[in-house]
Amino acid sequence: MTFTDPAELETLMKIGRIVAQTLQTMSEAVRPGMTTLELDELGLRLLRESGAIAAPPTVYGFPGATCISISPVAAHGIPDKGSVIQPGDIVNIDVSASLDGIFADNGGSFAVPPVSPQTQKLLTTARAALDQAVAEVRAGRPINNIGRAAEKQARRGGFRIVKALASHGVGHTLHDDPGTIFNFYRSSDRRIMQAGWVLAIEPFLTSGSGTIYEEDDQWGLTTADHQPVAQFEHTVVVTDGEPLVVTRL
Ligand code: CO
Ligand code: CO
Repeated sequence: MTFTDPAELETLMKIGRIVAQTLQTMSEAVRPGMTTLELDELGLRLLRESGAIAAPPTVYGFPGATCISISPVAAHGIPDKGSVIQPGDIVNIDVSASLDGIFADNGGSFAVPPVSPQTQKLLTTARAALDQAVAEVRAGRPINNIGRAAEKQARRGGFRIVKALASHGVGHTLHDDPGTIFNFYRSSDRRIMQAGWVLAIEPFLTSGSGTIYEEDDQWGLTTADHQPVAQFEHTVVVTDGEPLVVTRL
């Protein structure tokens, strides 16, 4: 979406803060023996208490309030009472929700101790890839700067971008204008960022080939070689200066 109304921006700031606080509280609750359904129930309660509406079930008919994916599932993991968090897991939590018709989207991957050096490096690099990508957000710049920065950071850490999973516009719905934004450099994408655009930036990094497949449940997206995967995501507003990161606490 592109903002034309300051009241909408105020609502975006509010829902950005709500999803960010929900993500933080959920991430702090992660422990071995917990099911992903329990974690999702916590997220749903927090969103409801804030007056927010979980996006995945209302927008896509997803069977959960949040997406909780245990690596090598990269995204769209269905919260399930049979899915028990184990020591050493990388748990991705993706929280998206709306308030008065305005949507924000954020996510992150969290390691359950004991954390191996490889896992730590993947998480550190994935967070850096998001930070570098967000730092490229500015009106007048090519949109492909975003993917180029994320890919460069991934390579520097010895990882690959999962190319099938993209960043996207957000705002009046979960996937809004300007549409798909690749998390890797694509020279043919000549779009220029405009002030007021709202973007959900979410590079996925893996130590494997980067190919994914869809699980039999028709939601979960898993690395084909079962190599670890991690994602961090922020919702940001394009401005003439520094981007406004509405999901940063
Ligand atoms: Co998300
Ligand atoms: Co997203």
